[in-house]
Amino acid sequence: MAQTPHAEEHQSFIKTPEQLAAVVFLAFAVPIVIIVILTQFVTGPSSDPAKSMNEDAVARRIKPVGEVVFGDAQPAATPAAPAPAAPVVAAAPAKVDGKAVYDQACSVCHSAGIAGAPKTGDKAAWAPRIAQGKDTLYTHAIGGIRGMPAKGGNASLADAEVKAAVDVMISQAK
Ligand code: HEC
Repeated sequence: MAQTPHAEEHQSFIKTPEQLAAVVFLAFAVPIVIIVILTQFVTGPSSDPAKSMNEDAVARRIKPVGEVVFGDAQPAATPAAPAPAAPVVAAAPAKVDGKAVYDQACSVCHSAGIAGAPKTGDKAAWAPRIAQGKDTLYTHAIGGIRGMPAKGGNASLADAEVKAAVDVMISQAK
């Protein structure tokens, strides 16, 4: 009882190479389009400022609860010698205390080398970065680069404060 082979038993609706190409293309394209549309819901512009993913709005939301205030906020008291008791808060006006900025805004990542941050004091990690030139480091610290958030994620810092913190880091790596 020889059986004839059932070559056509499982029929596919794909019959031609063109149909196969179309199916393969759609199998990639459709999910990508769906994912892109979904991301628009999450990251797209939102009218609610509390939910906006705008860089400034995010920086405001995630900024530290407390911050070091330099200069202006102090009552115009006697231009006394810097108070040794509270050097961070009592930093002399006009002179930016890079160490204080570093401690407050940068050490969280850079003292331990978190998230790929070059560790402060690690000469080998800093040598190639310092080789880029100070201005490049300033630009990257202020504007951010890869894992490094702009101004260390602290948008309220003045450019001069960030630069002073960079100077501290550079001096530690020499
Ligand atoms: C959230 C963690 C984080 C904080 C906070 C942070 N950094 Fe960074 N920083 C990084 C990471 C990660 C890199 C490495 C980026 C890379 O090259 O991929 C980096 C790199 C740098 C670089 C080298 C950039 C270059 O061109 O190679 C400088 C300078 C720097 N940070 C300065 C600062 C200063 C100043 C502050 C504080 C105001 C700060 N960082 C706060 C994570 C951080």
